[in-house]
Amino acid sequence: MSQLEWFEDESFWTAIYPYLFSEARFEAAGEHLENILDLVGMDSGSVLDLCCGPGRFAIPLSQRGFRVTAVDRSPFLLGDGRQRAAQRNLDVEWVESDMREFERPEAFDLVLNLNTSFGYFDARDEDVGVLRRIFASLKPGGRLVMDLMGKEKLARIFQPTVSEKLEDGTLLIQRHEIFDEWSRIRNEWIIIKGAEVRTFKFHHTVYSGQELKDRLLAAGFRDVNLCGSFEGEEYGRESDRLVAVAARPALTVA
Ligand SMILES: C[S@@+](CC[C@H](N)C(=O)[O-])C[C@H]1O[C@@H](n2cnc3c(N)ncnc32)[C@H](O)[C@@H]1O
Repeated sequence: MSQLEWFEDESFWTAIYPYLFSEARFEAAGEHLENILDLVGMDSGSVLDLCCGPGRFAIPLSQRGFRVTAVDRSPFLLGDGRQRAAQRNLDVEWVESDMREFERPEAFDLVLNLNTSFGYFDARDEDVGVLRRIFASLKPGGRLVMDLMGKEKLARIFQPTVSEKLEDGTLLIQRHEIFDEWSRIRNEWIIIKGAEVRTFKFHHTVYSGQELKDRLLAAGFRDVNLCGSFEGEEYGRESDRLVAVAARPALTVA
């Protein structure tokens, strides 16, 4: 049997759940969503949340009346999202699928891919393949919003080791190494909870603003705008996030 890729390891998502998907981060997502919707000027329609996790964005979107399809490859995270939606009587469509496979032609007004849920594959053309599928899944005139940790920020803040004490007393030690000519980052997370120590390794491509823009254009997107946050300020060296807003061109009548 072939070895699992890091993002296929459910124990990874289970272990980092309290850090990535804390109630505080759920609340923050609700606030970010207001800004995202302002960025694209939408208040209704169909939305694909690609790599939705437990629904930090899918749930408030559904609460606001959007038709939401939430796609992720982790059964554990989808199960959590399903439960949260059921508790709130929300009708979200949860789909277990790999982002390299999911495609629903011309189905969505808006696609979201948030919190560095991109660049996970060793074969770089698979990233552009994901963008092409997103493009195909958008209605003409539809928009994509992506949010990543940009290479410019990483270069500014990079430290080989960082440690942090989480709310529940868990100690999280992160070790980082940049490789492949400053194009990818290898991370090791050491999670120390009482006497239990668990270590997870994962790596992904890190995109600069221009590198991401080039790939979006190669996938067919137009009107690609880079912002430094969900508030929409211009992307630059000091930006906290790399937020790309891109459009599938509307059909034009000749
Ligand atoms: C950093 S989390 C972000 C989750 C969510 N977007 C958020 O902001 O809370 C990355 C997500 O990508 C999902 N994922 C990882 N690899 C994937 C793949 N190949 N196909 C689909 N989902 C994937 C993970 O299961 C996880 O839910």
